[in-house]
Amino acid sequence: MSPVQSTCPRCFGPIESESACPACALGFVRRGALLDVLGPTEREQRAAEVEEFYTHSPFPGYAPADDAGTILDRSRKSGFLAALDRSIPPDARVVDCGCGTGQLAAFLALSAPHRQVFGVDGCKESLACGDAFRERTDTRNLQFVRADLFDLPLAEASFETVICRGVVHHTPDPEGAIASVARAVAPGGVLLLGFYETWGRAFHCLRRGLSKVRGKPIALLDPILRRRDLSDEKKRIWIQDQYYHPLEHILPMPGVLRTLEGLGFEWVRSVPPVPQDGRGGIFEATDRPGALGRTGLRAGWMLAGLNDPDAGLVALVARRKRG
Ligand SMILES: C[S@@+](CC[C@H](N)C(=O)[O-])C[C@H]1O[C@@H](n2cnc3c(N)ncnc32)[C@H](O)[C@@H]1O
Repeated sequence: MSPVQSTCPRCFGPIESESACPACALGFVRRGALLDVLGPTEREQRAAEVEEFYTHSPFPGYAPADDAGTILDRSRKSGFLAALDRSIPPDARVVDCGCGTGQLAAFLALSAPHRQVFGVDGCKESLACGDAFRERTDTRNLQFVRADLFDLPLAEASFETVICRGVVHHTPDPEGAIASVARAVAPGGVLLLGFYETWGRAFHCLRRGLSKVRGKPIALLDPILRRRDLSDEKKRIWIQDQYYHPLEHILPMPGVLRTLEGLGFEWVRSVPPVPQDGRGGIFEATDRPGALGRTGLRAGWMLAGLNDPDAGLVALVARRKRG
């Protein structure tokens, strides 16, 4: 049997070895095709706690019947994911930092076989789900890597598109985490950073407070728990993630924008809103909102909170300046 081949996330060379990249010497532990850069080392207590949490509730999780077709269909029905796919060139190099079980990375890889897509996460269990899916669907342009967000095995400025969605607010140092993922973006490349926004998440904080008083979540107030088409397992994972997470920050959009601008990025847009009618991508620059515009956006997110299936997760898209 020929040895399993992986792709190095740092120099993009092929890897067949069990412990180090022959070209750049990046060290790892091999788990099938998955490269574990963290290895069995001791990690900081909070990070270990977060990994333990996702070990029991890998997020977002696959449905048992998921295959390449269902992932593509479901993802293309989402205005946001369809726009993201349209925006990323079909031969781009993409990394999803904190990919969890890797649906987004899998979608972007399946959708364009010449894209080179990496999914990096700290949770062994989540990555095992993702890698099993990758193997089942024989998705060859997708590589999963286990690593810590604060010590990414990625070369500086080496990716045209870096995605980090729903992750930095689950670290002890969101600003440091933003700086860490931003380093991998090539000049002229794009970072899509999704985070719990203070105003956007206000309604969820209220809902979570009420659920604490009641002793369990109030399904009537939660658009995900109200859905009849979701399995009990999906809802259990949602409840754990949204109501009982051991480490969560909420971040004000103007502060995140300031951080990105300080790192040499410029405003492209926020999501929401998603470009309408299937036209346009989400990497096309829009006017940077002034103070009033930012307040308007945030007020809109707050009002949408009641029925928001993402519970206040918003994204900023920013482009790294050249030179
Ligand atoms: C809520 S999940 C988001 C998953 C995926 N991005 C999505 O949007 O569905 C957060 C992920 O961040 C990962 N994570 C949190 N802290 C991390 C760290 N310090 N290093 C690597 N991954 C981390 C967790 O393991 C988890 O899979």
